[in-house]
Amino acid sequence: MKILALPKILIVLLLMVSCLFAVTSVSARQEGKLQGSHGDSSVMSKSCRACHKGMNMSVNGEEGTCLACHGDSTARAGMIEAGFLKDTGNLNLTDIASELSKPYNHPVLTIRGVHRQRERLPEDVVNAARHAECVDCHEVHVVEKDNPYRGLKGRRVGNFITDIAEEYELCYRCHSESANLPGNFTNKHEEFKTTNPSFHPVEGEGKNTFVISLKDPYVAQKQKPKDISQISCNDCHGSDDPNGPKGPHGSNYPGLLVLSYQMDDERSESAQAYALCYKCHDRVSILSNESFQYHSLHIEGQLGGQNGTSCFTCHDAHGSSQYPYLIKFNEDVVSKNADGKLKYEAQGYSARHGACYLNCHGVEHNPLKY
Ligand code: HEC
Ligand code: HEC
Ligand code: HEC
Ligand code: HEC
Ligand code: HEC
Ligand code: HEC
Ligand code: HEC
Repeated sequence: MKILALPKILIVLLLMVSCLFAVTSVSARQEGKLQGSHGDSSVMSKSCRACHKGMNMSVNGEEGTCLACHGDSTARAGMIEAGFLKDTGNLNLTDIASELSKPYNHPVLTIRGVHRQRERLPEDVVNAARHAECVDCHEVHVVEKDNPYRGLKGRRVGNFITDIAEEYELCYRCHSESANLPGNFTNKHEEFKTTNPSFHPVEGEGKNTFVISLKDPYVAQKQKPKDISQISCNDCHGSDDPNGPKGPHGSNYPGLLVLSYQMDDERSESAQAYALCYKCHDRVSILSNESFQYHSLHIEGQLGGQNGTSCFTCHDAHGSSQYPYLIKFNEDVVSKNADGKLKYEAQGYSARHGACYLNCHGVEHNPLKY
């Protein structure tokens, strides 16, 4: 990694020299030879110069470099015209720019001049500006279709920084122990910790061994090869277009979600309203109260499905550090009861009984048991 500390002029020299012969080293940049998706010289015939244009070796890590090929077809045609990209007939580049322009997105297009080369994430400076550039999530010198996190550095353990192998480790670079996490955003590593009373099974299999509403092929514990007992951030976060590019670039659904999820109180229940949850949890099972005997009452309300409340009022989609069953109350809707209590008591997985201490829509739960 010593090369990274060299002044710019030396890097320019390296780039020129490296076109002539490859140095024996581990890094693609040092070898002067691209690996992975950008390494096919029949498509990327000008190699390094596709991004490091002219003598200006220093690219600033902003998205413009990338969107020339990964943006709209007009931009791409320009790159083909200029000879940086060759259309061999099976070129299949998607429009990441239009994804990033959707209402819920990673702020790649809107934030400028914050990313620093060789920065260390998670951020440890409290007032550092938040950002996410393409190069924070993709190491373009080595990225591969089947190994999309290759070359990216993950969590810091003391002075040691681990390589990223799982998607969630990439996300934790900015959504876990970042000192500059905005107030309304939470530490996802805390929420998904497998020592929590409950969590969606992202880092490991879930705590609850029998989740009755799960739809095939989802299961609580893997027994058969086709069973799926662990899920990823990308099962919930990503493009709203099922045929759109993979990755959490942008979505038309709030929360940058792949499917719709109604989070407000006093709304109608429908397959569409909670489509995200119903992707894996059977709607009929939930609404026929197979687990919580008052699910339907709360979700559909009493006026024929018109004034129900969201799953979000009682459940956290990531995890709960306090209770089983992903219970975490939305305190915009739920408040303390007359005794000042706001809590949930469960009786164990097979019991299907519990008690709530709270006030909701003026209804005292002190406690209400099921
Ligand atoms: C697909 C676009 C792309 C290609 C192709 C590419 N690079 Fe890069 N390179 C970048 C970007 C973007 C950065 C800045 C990364 C950052 O800011 O984190 C960078 C950074 C670097 C750096 C670090 C610069 C510094 O000041 O620390 C070196 C060295 C480098 N590239 C060498 C190469 C070499 C050699 C090649 C050809 C073998 C190459 N790159 C091909 C996009 C590219
Ligand atoms: C000169 C055109 C060009 C430029 C500039 C370019 N790319 Fe690419 N990129 C490609 C091509 C071609 C592929 C291979 C696509 C394929 O195999 O389907 C690719 C593949 C990728 C992939 C892997 C996707 C996959 O599934 O294989 C990622 C991620 C990526 N590019 C990100 C970037 C980023 C980030 C930048 C800017 C730093 C960038 N690219 C700049 C042409 C380009
Ligand atoms: C380089 C930093 C970075 C990385 C890595 C990162 N994010 Fe983000 N993410 C951000 C920033 C910045 C925002 C804007 C809000 C904020 O400051 O937290 C954001 C916002 C979000 C939002 C809310 C979007 C909205 O419109 O409501 C979601 C969801 C999200 N990220 C998911 C992910 C997932 C999933 C991953 C891993 C695949 C990930 N992020 C990786 C920086 C990052
Ligand atoms: C991609 C599939 C998937 C999606 C989408 C999904 N879940 Fe789950 N969910 C699972 C799996 C798998 C488990 C089993 C975890 C376990 O065994 O503890 C589970 C378990 C649960 C549990 C029980 C957890 C426990 O510890 O008892 C609740 C509650 C839950 N999900 C609610 C939701 C809600 C609310 C949504 C929508 C925001 C949702 N799920 C979306 C796959 C999914
Ligand atoms: C089962 C579906 C599901 C999974 C899996 C999931 N999320 Fe979420 N996520 C949601 C929903 C629903 C929301 C919006 C409600 C909320 O804020 O809790 C959300 C909101 C967010 C937000 C914005 C709000 C905040 O608190 O920061 C971020 C960032 C985020 N998720 C990151 C992640 C990361 C990182 C992962 C994987 C480690 C992940 N999510 C896995 C469903 C999911
Ligand atoms: C917050 C992190 C993040 C940011 C910022 C980001 N990406 Fe991605 N991107 C991902 C993830 C995660 C994937 C999915 C990788 C996988 O599972 O194959 C992805 C996938 C892709 C793919 C492959 C799409 C496909 O369908 O195979 C391309 C190309 C790509 N990104 C380019 C870009 C470009 C260009 C930018 C900036 C303009 C960018 N990304 C910004 C996280 C990010
Ligand atoms: C009023 C609070 C409340 C609301 C609203 C709510 N739940 Fe639940 N849910 C619970 C409680 C309490 C349990 C635990 C029941 C038990 O003791 O087994 C539970 C259990 C679950 C379970 C685990 C057992 C099973 O059925 O597989 C899932 C999954 C679940 N809920 C999904 C949802 C979804 C999806 C929604 C929205 C469509 C929703 N819940 C709305 C309170 C609620």
